[in-house]
Amino acid sequence: MTASNGDDWTGNLDEIPRAAYKGGTMNRREILHTLAALTGAAALPRRGLAEVVPFPGNSAQGAKTPTQDTPNLVTLFDYEAAFPQRVEKMAYDYISGGAGDEISLRRNHIAYEGIRLKPRVLRDVSRIDTSVELFGQKLNYPILLAPTAYHRLVHPEGELATARGAGAAGATMVVSSFATTAIEDVGKAATGTLWFQLYVQPDRGFTKDLVQRAESAGCKALCITVDTPVAGTRNREMRDRFQLPRNLSMENLRALGEKVRQHRDYKEGFGEDIYSVVLDPSLTWDGIEWIRSFAKVPILLKGILSPEDARLAVEHGASGVIVSNHGARDLDTVPGTTEALPGVVEAVEGRIPVLVDGGIRRGTDVVKALALGARAVQIGRPYLWGLSVAGSEGVRRICEILVTELRAAMALCGRPTLASIDRTVLWPEKPAIPRKEEGPGSSGGRRPGAGG
Ligand SMILES: Cc1cc2nc3c(=O)[nH]c(=O)nc-3n(C[C@H](O)[C@H](O)[C@H](O)COP(=O)(O)O)c2cc1C
Repeated sequence: MTASNGDDWTGNLDEIPRAAYKGGTMNRREILHTLAALTGAAALPRRGLAEVVPFPGNSAQGAKTPTQDTPNLVTLFDYEAAFPQRVEKMAYDYISGGAGDEISLRRNHIAYEGIRLKPRVLRDVSRIDTSVELFGQKLNYPILLAPTAYHRLVHPEGELATARGAGAAGATMVVSSFATTAIEDVGKAATGTLWFQLYVQPDRGFTKDLVQRAESAGCKALCITVDTPVAGTRNREMRDRFQLPRNLSMENLRALGEKVRQHRDYKEGFGEDIYSVVLDPSLTWDGIEWIRSFAKVPILLKGILSPEDARLAVEHGASGVIVSNHGARDLDTVPGTTEALPGVVEAVEGRIPVLVDGGIRRGTDVVKALALGARAVQIGRPYLWGLSVAGSEGVRRICEILVTELRAAMALCGRPTLASIDRTVLWPEKPAIPRKEEGPGSSGGRRPGAGG
């Protein structure tokens, strides 16, 4: 991949060692169990899928907060390692998995590992400002909680706990159309900013109602997911015969009746056909224009990877785009989102903000995404790991860890504001200033034919 100034800023991804779980004798889940044991997270009790009792760590009786119980969980990866202890295998696979052979899933994060940073020194970093403005909304930091379905799979308080955790952390939460709590209830529980993620429904009257319900519940932007006309091939879910536990449902879609259960319900026969009852495969750009005609809030298109689609998004009046491969859950072998980001940024030419998600696990990843032109990033799985370990407090803690890492990375790179983060914070593959011995006229002794 090449930056616009011609410098390669990534390492060769193929040279990066594959994660230990790929091709090793242990599968990823087994490795996470081992890691959990090492971090002390193995002592955490496991909960059943369908359990709906109050979570002990969140009780009002002055119980110790779960983070006091889990002082060893200091990175997002520590929470990932603790996660398998907290949920049933079916939920674990549903959340952790990706499409097909999970090639894009691995690539999402590995692509960040391949990018190196170039710190600058002796710059005043005594104040770090992570704030950013998006659509007239002031965000404390450029990290949002991406929409994810079914929070009550991992915690009995589900989306309510996520909303409280996000509020406590000062983070914006994007609520999924497939939430297991109705948007009205999330709106009441939320103390911070909410956005809503829309899966356009085949029933357009219902879709319009849903958008208006989200707006009435206080959602300040609409993310229309455009990368999922049909559901991805997720083999882990097929093998597990994934099914949403009977005591949970997609509360926002309740009025559509029992048929919505067939979505991703492998026990009910999903998997034999590519279409889903709750996704509209006929959606086109006209549909986006139609939603724009009545929506009162800014509309972002989530799931843009190609520069061509990014240009069309601008032409069709989107307020923003989110570079996303849906956490690599839809189409396998697409690039890691970091790889797609520069092309989209170039295509929109600064006319609308570009956000990105997928594989962001470290503050340094956030710096890299911003350096490549993203205005903000979203995280998906990490806050679900936090939610499973410690409810709302776990969500808050995930945000806190990432923001603290971001602040440290900004200070250590000599970039005290988001505006000061640009491509020059990325280490160029080729030295930007040619070394003396390699300059014009020098024999250098390394170029072919130059040796003597
Ligand atoms: C369990 C799970 C459920 C998801 N549900 C939705 C959803 O309902 N709507 C949507 O637009 N994206 C959904 N996504 C994709 C996320 O919004 C986001 O693009 C992705 O998780 C980012 O990658 P990350 O998990 O590596 O951070 C889901 C992702 C996961 C892991």
